[in-house]
Amino acid sequence: PASLGALAARAGKDVGFATGPDLLAIAPLKAVVDAQATLVTPENVMKWQYTEPSQGHFDFSQGDALVAYAQAAGKKVYGHNLVWHSQLAPWVAGLDAAALRPAMENHVRQQAEHFKGKVVAWDVVNEAFDEDGTRRDDSPFQQKLGDGYIEDAFRTAHAADPNAKLCYNDYNIENIGAKSDAVYAMVKDFRSRGVPIDCVGFQSHLVLGGVPQDFVENLERFAALGVDVRITELDIRMATPASDGDLARQADDYRTVFADCLAVAACQGVTIWGVTDKYSWVPTTFPGQGAALVWDDDVQPKPAFEAIAGALRDA
Ligand code: G3I
Repeated sequence: PASLGALAARAGKDVGFATGPDLLAIAPLKAVVDAQATLVTPENVMKWQYTEPSQGHFDFSQGDALVAYAQAAGKKVYGHNLVWHSQLAPWVAGLDAAALRPAMENHVRQQAEHFKGKVVAWDVVNEAFDEDGTRRDDSPFQQKLGDGYIEDAFRTAHAADPNAKLCYNDYNIENIGAKSDAVYAMVKDFRSRGVPIDCVGFQSHLVLGGVPQDFVENLERFAALGVDVRITELDIRMATPASDGDLARQADDYRTVFADCLAVAACQGVTIWGVTDKYSWVPTTFPGQGAALVWDDDVQPKPAFEAIAGALRDA
């Protein structure tokens, strides 16, 4: 069978998968990542709740295990993530502003320094905006530190690891609209003021039939600001059980997303948010939906696999 990663590498693009040491212990899943990926993203193990479960006590063991896998297998690691309101250690929300700012900076510094030279990029700040383009107010960072926490995090990460690409990452910014406009304005402002931002991640948790028509146009407008772009968390969900027709439409959607990235010089690649439908986050979050990934519950390739390979062969 084709190696998506090898095909993509000819065009200078990555094919990544979100995964972790627990999932890589499953032999058929690991075999897919071994054969198909040029890059891995920790689905969970570099999140704050795991890496600094109590203040000042860092545990990078699971992240180190993923890095060790990647280094042995010759794959890049994409760091996810440094600052996010979710999967945060509970102690963080209890701090007042005066304590939260140094705690955030220390977290960013320690984690970026620990993985220095081992990750190609970081999602420095994840999911800071609401759908209407305002700042999301359920984040303790936003609530207590205000808008400036984002540039503070980027500057701190840059000082800790000047060579890692520093990214802002979000969902529902694949199309041109209120949310992506707000991210665009922030990136433009950061670039104009020298705040060290290098890239934007478009998560792309899509629904069947929902690849935006203006995805390329949107990626290109960000690229024109001088940043790299990447599709960081792709999956394409549907009502389950999926019919053969659904899976064929999903294959077309996967083909389109890969072709869209291939059409944009600044697009670094596509990361799929997991390998098998069996362990996807989708059914727990959206009951009645699933079948969002490229390998089925038995780790067999779905029609999307050949569709992606076709898009990569055409590049
Ligand atoms: O680690 C505990 C384990 O000890 C416990 O036994 C188990 C029982 O529920 O839960 C485990 O934690 C789960 C964790 O994943 C690790 O498996 C959490 O409950 C579960 O909520 C968590 O879900 C993750 C989710 O982020 C949380 O927000 C998903 O795996 C992960 O795919 C998902 O990824 C996010 C990206 O980071 C950001 N963008 C959206 C994307 C999808 O939500």
